[in-house]
Amino acid sequence: MRKNIIAGNWKMNMDYTTGIGLFSEIVNMVNDEVMGDQQVIVCPPYIHLNGMAQLAKSQNNISVGAQNCHQADKGAYTGEISAEMIQSVGVKYVILGHSERRQYFNESNTLLAEKVNSALKNNLKPIFCIGETLDQRNSNSHFEIIKNQLQEALYHLLETEFQNIILAYEPVWAIGTGLTATPDQAQEVHAFIRKEIEEKFGQSAAENVSILYGGSCNPTNASELFAKADIDGGLIGGASLKSRDFLDIIKAFNRG
Ligand code: 13P
Repeated sequence: MRKNIIAGNWKMNMDYTTGIGLFSEIVNMVNDEVMGDQQVIVCPPYIHLNGMAQLAKSQNNISVGAQNCHQADKGAYTGEISAEMIQSVGVKYVILGHSERRQYFNESNTLLAEKVNSALKNNLKPIFCIGETLDQRNSNSHFEIIKNQLQEALYHLLETEFQNIILAYEPVWAIGTGLTATPDQAQEVHAFIRKEIEEKFGQSAAENVSILYGGSCNPTNASELFAKADIDGGLIGGASLKSRDFLDIIKAFNRG
């Protein structure tokens, strides 16, 4: 059965010392307070990955993820970091397709398909983000947009490859805005995504894929969102930078 997952996306925040300190605090708090079997994944900027992966080594339920990777293994790509390099420091996950990467760095579904391939080849599990803008929702094209994102970036995979994918539904209008999708709005899209996955990859793939919700998720709204049948956890931005808030979101998972 699918896993319950809470992932923190630190985005471009935290200098090295503060970040390692925050992660140590999170590890201690998870060990002290969390009883369920939910998986916690923290995705810091690249510079923290090595140090945090060392701290996470002995932890069963806490892992580290990157926020991006380049599609090639190596080469003359000044400033870039590959999936091969990321996995070499003991990291297990990578966020791909975040709307900020799509918007500010022009990442297309076609490019993302290549990044997904590179991540899988290097044993990194992608946390693959999909979601619509406000205009797309207002024009009622959100289902079509999401279907297209799935088709173009993931539908070339074999079912055995798809088993390593975690999905995250992040409506762009809810990211960092304080506007959360209502639990019913999120559930409607999550159920749609699961049905699409079932059509493409079969029932077992659909039942086993974790679909996280992201967008202004906080300790107050988390439990209502996570109580929905097709919402298997959260991808948390702002609230993952405060250990108390992040822990309260992790603990909001009452199906664990
Ligand atoms: P916020 O939780 O800050 O809205 O960010 C969500 C997000 O983009 C996680 O990837």
